[in-house]
Amino acid sequence: MLNPTSNIFLVGLMGSGKTTIGRALAKKLNKRFVDADHEIEARTGASIRLIFEIEGEASFRQREADVIRDLTAQEGLVLATGGGAILNEQSRAFLRSRGTVVYLRASVASILQRTSHDKSRPLLQTADPKARIEELARERGPYYDEVAHITIETGRPNVQSVVQNILARLEAQTPASQPDLLTAINPEAADQTTSAAAPHSTPAQPT
Ligand code: S3P
Repeated sequence: MLNPTSNIFLVGLMGSGKTTIGRALAKKLNKRFVDADHEIEARTGASIRLIFEIEGEASFRQREADVIRDLTAQEGLVLATGGGAILNEQSRAFLRSRGTVVYLRASVASILQRTSHDKSRPLLQTADPKARIEELARERGPYYDEVAHITIETGRPNVQSVVQNILARLEAQTPASQPDLLTAINPEAADQTTSAAAPHSTPAQPT
């Protein structure tokens, strides 16, 4: 696994696969998986939908920023953030400085397909969800690009192939200092290289 104390933060639009891929990635890296939306719901005692309905989006964003601040202060997490978490400047700074940020970039068509029957995402309860997704992609694209250390196209539907892709990119950034990561990607290759690497050295910080 990666340095066990290091964090991985997944960002991207709704329906880009953050939760599914995050869970699989955490398992592979033996890290704890946390979903920021679930944490907001647990703290509030209400669903995201109800929070939007009763308190409005601004209040939800404040709750979201509090959760991002607190969760990014922890160690050893794979964190799936809500699609709009990157709208908050302070959250972007916390994400960028407290872990490796992986942007899962998905096409509008695939997001539309994955969210088509979804009633739990208030922002998509509109007559024209495609137009809304396009608008969100336009607005937020620059923020995702700004905060990301690594960008992964999630066009391929296979979760494991996306996870392998992320692991390979993480490895490319920090090859020698994280032998356990090699084991997660390719056990045989790792056997040949681990002896040369320092097992618990601090990983190089991504730029
Ligand atoms: C939102 C995304 C949702 C959730 C809320 C708002 C957004 O999270 O936080 O509905 O603004 O894009 P997911 O990206 O996990 O669906």
